[in-house]
Amino acid sequence: MPRAPAGARAVLLIALLCRLAAAGNPELPTAVNITWSSINFKTILKWQPKPSGYFYTVEIHGQMSDTKKKCVMTTETECDVTDALRNVKETYTAHVLSVKSLVEDNFEEPLFASSEKFTPYNQTIIGKPEIQHHTQKDSKLTVVFRDPLTPYMFPNGSFQSVRDIFKHDLEYKLYYWKDQSSGKKDATTKSHTFDISVDNKNNYCFYVQGTIPSRRENRNGQESTVLCTTVGRTILDEYGAEVFIIIAVVAIAVITLTIILAVILCKCKRAKNAREKEPLNGV
Ligand SMILES: *[C@@H]1O[C@H](CO)[C@@H](O)[C@H](O)[C@H]1NC(C)=O
Ligand SMILES: *[C@@H]1O[C@H](CO)[C@@H](O)[C@H](O)[C@H]1NC(C)=O
Ligand SMILES: *[C@@H]1O[C@H](CO)[C@@H](O)[C@H](O)[C@H]1NC(C)=O
Repeated sequence: MPRAPAGARAVLLIALLCRLAAAGNPELPTAVNITWSSINFKTILKWQPKPSGYFYTVEIHGQMSDTKKKCVMTTETECDVTDALRNVKETYTAHVLSVKSLVEDNFEEPLFASSEKFTPYNQTIIGKPEIQHHTQKDSKLTVVFRDPLTPYMFPNGSFQSVRDIFKHDLEYKLYYWKDQSSGKKDATTKSHTFDISVDNKNNYCFYVQGTIPSRRENRNGQESTVLCTTVGRTILDEYGAEVFIIIAVVAIAVITLTIILAVILCKCKRAKNAREKEPLNGV
């Protein structure tokens, strides 16, 4: 290729940049499969495909609030948009913009794809409650738990819990059952404590789950870990079946050994007796 003079090269470069800057780069892919995933008001927007040779920028459009940009020029395919959704009862739409490097595009709207609408208050999933302690005494099962926390803070810097936001729309359910049985019962509370009448001789297992009865979708939250009480524990519960199997195996081994030893000793004695009698027989 003949070397063009410097001036011509500069012109060529500018022409190239202009082409890049010309919006609506037809070859630039837009995001697909855009999904909201939100637990306890922590909300991540995800999409596809992985970009190559371009970037994404997320715009959050509310009904009332100003448009907010998040994850500007990212090469990721997800973006934490929690900050932009503080007004949790508002309904938001996300635009995922596909943008070329360097060139801030002033001529046309960049290409973008829109998400479905998302209302944090109606759609965020309630996370696992944390069981703080439990007791079973005198036919009473008591379970005390803590609300899941949200990423949002009070002005004094402490995190708001889901209850601070949902207030009386939020209830908790305790599901409980006799250990080793399948008949599940439930109880409901708007406080942090369950007091349930139970059969004192049995152990019970249980978990706690948040729920928002007024919701049509995502009504039930995530289940807490399952815990079991430990009244009336037998040695079998305490040590498990393995210990019993080991004891049984050892016992059988000892008995077998004893029998074998006895048989051998017996045979020896008989042989000895026989040998001692031999000379007499030989006479
Ligand atoms: C979008 O999701 C569909 C269904 O889950 C999948 O078949 C498709 O490959 C996804 N698109 C991209 C670009 O990954
Ligand atoms: C912060 O403020 C909230 C609500 O006003 C209150 O419930 C919480 O106890 C406060 N936390 C601290 C650490 O003072
Ligand atoms: C949120 O849920 C409430 C109660 O189900 C409903 O009245 C309201 O219309 C919902 N808002 C949106 C934006 O879906």
